[in-house]
Amino acid sequence: MKRYLLIYPGNETLGRKIAEGAGLQIVDFKLRRFPDGESYFQLLSAVQGGEVVILCSLFHPDEKIVQLIYMAETCRHNGATRVTLIAPYLPYMRQDKAFKPGEAVTSGTFADIVSAYFDKLITIEPHLHRIASLDDIYSITTHALSSAASIAAWVKEHVPDALLTGPDEESTPWIENVAQRTGLPYTVLTKIRSGDREVKLEVPDISKYQQRTPVIIDDIVSTATTMIKAVKLLIEKGARPPVCIATHAVFAADSFRELKDSGAEKIVTTNTIPHESNEIDISGEIIGCLNG
Ligand code: R5P
Repeated sequence: MKRYLLIYPGNETLGRKIAEGAGLQIVDFKLRRFPDGESYFQLLSAVQGGEVVILCSLFHPDEKIVQLIYMAETCRHNGATRVTLIAPYLPYMRQDKAFKPGEAVTSGTFADIVSAYFDKLITIEPHLHRIASLDDIYSITTHALSSAASIAAWVKEHVPDALLTGPDEESTPWIENVAQRTGLPYTVLTKIRSGDREVKLEVPDISKYQQRTPVIIDDIVSTATTMIKAVKLLIEKGARPPVCIATHAVFAADSFRELKDSGAEKIVTTNTIPHESNEIDISGEIIGCLNG
């Protein structure tokens, strides 16, 4: 079956790599907003009888999801037999239960919306915490790819004396994964969060690793509160200035500058979300999934 790639604006760098690596034909379209804010979409390429793969990293998801629905539906109306969504960053994975009465469980509702309009979802390192698998909430085929191999390769090349550091217990699986691939030692901090920007961290005894560079690895940097607290605490404990690595460079508001100012040696992210800190390329994982 012929396969096409529709690259949502802003995803062109990753999109071109995926199109080339997986042999997808890039489709032309027009997307704009009317003066009143409504969306206009026009498909300019023929997709009859083929699979359309739409690439859109879903940070700031609310402004994109409706346009993605129009794109998917228009592709189907024009003869596409399958529509796949590649969302390198998948949002709405944290509010997976009502913590307080009356709260929206947005993980499930967002999954229902995507499942209603797409046949397949490919994403990288979704924040699976209380939900064990995307299949628990998505009713379509899902592929949750790991960034661990790419992160491990980067660490091995750039920080061979690393002490891999997980900022909280949730990070243990990917810290262990990177440790296994690199043979580097690791430690995991404990974290208690009491608000969006209120977290308390504790560091285990790392005195035997003073000659190593802490490399803090997390799945997402949002307000950067977690990373900033971890950097400061590690330095307070006598560690070298840490290198910070995150899969998803969400960086809300001024948090990238705040993290830079916190004493971090370097901040590196993968290209699931376009950002100046992108240094680790995950296109290979997506191409492998499309070709597999
Ligand atoms: C926690 O559950 C996640 O793995 C990240 O540690 C968290 O989302 C980072 O958020 P922030 O940058 O706002 O501290």
